[in-house]
Amino acid sequence: MKVAIVSGSHRQPSQSIKVAKLIRRRIGERFAGAQAEIIDLGGNPYPLWDQGIWDGDPAWTERLAEPKRILNESDALVVVSPEWHGQVPSGLKNFFLLFGPKELGHKPGMIVTLSASEGGSYPVAELRMSSYKNNRLCYIPEHVIIKHVESVLNDDPAQNDAERDTYLRGRIDWTLGILNEYAKALRPVRESGVTASPDFPFGM
Ligand SMILES: Cc1cc2nc3c(=O)[nH]c(=O)nc-3n(C[C@H](O)[C@H](O)[C@H](O)COP(=O)(O)O)c2cc1C
Repeated sequence: MKVAIVSGSHRQPSQSIKVAKLIRRRIGERFAGAQAEIIDLGGNPYPLWDQGIWDGDPAWTERLAEPKRILNESDALVVVSPEWHGQVPSGLKNFFLLFGPKELGHKPGMIVTLSASEGGSYPVAELRMSSYKNNRLCYIPEHVIIKHVESVLNDDPAQNDAERDTYLRGRIDWTLGILNEYAKALRPVRESGVTASPDFPFGM
């Protein structure tokens, strides 16, 4: 399995990149031959979408070359998103404007959201509702919500709430196992050719 992980926070450093790195490590440890690469939206590396993308502006071609390579090579996507004012960060919404069905179509997606307090549900709902229509990303039914993120999933056990930390590490591993099976199962769907229709380039 090759996994692309998008870390959706604009902040540097962020709790999202902490979680993204942990997931990258677990993918390497759990699945023989698996690889994961992170696309970090920290520091806002990609400007907001503009018409230059559709007009073939060379600056955009160069800027998007590396993330497109990561996404094209991947057979699954993990989306890590903090809850910001009850939403996903705007840089993450921009990500779904910048990349489309060539990079994401009919690949399984795993949502991981996080909050410094009791949040995390709104970004799950938002991603499931509005981030897949035209790119045809297939979110798997399981997702992970990490509340009180600062007190879990830290490398230093002394910083962790031991019970919650153990539960969430187990939950992440279990969900990654499901993602791995969907990654295998959806590859033949893409390869079958049925998903590519010049008549229906956009979702309804
Ligand atoms: C602009 C902004 C808005 C936030 N809004 C919420 C919110 O609506 N609900 C919530 O639970 N936490 C909110 N938080 C706190 C975040 O959950 C917390 O900062 C978390 O660590 C953010 O993840 P990050 O470090 O990856 O950016 C907000 C944080 C920021 C920076």
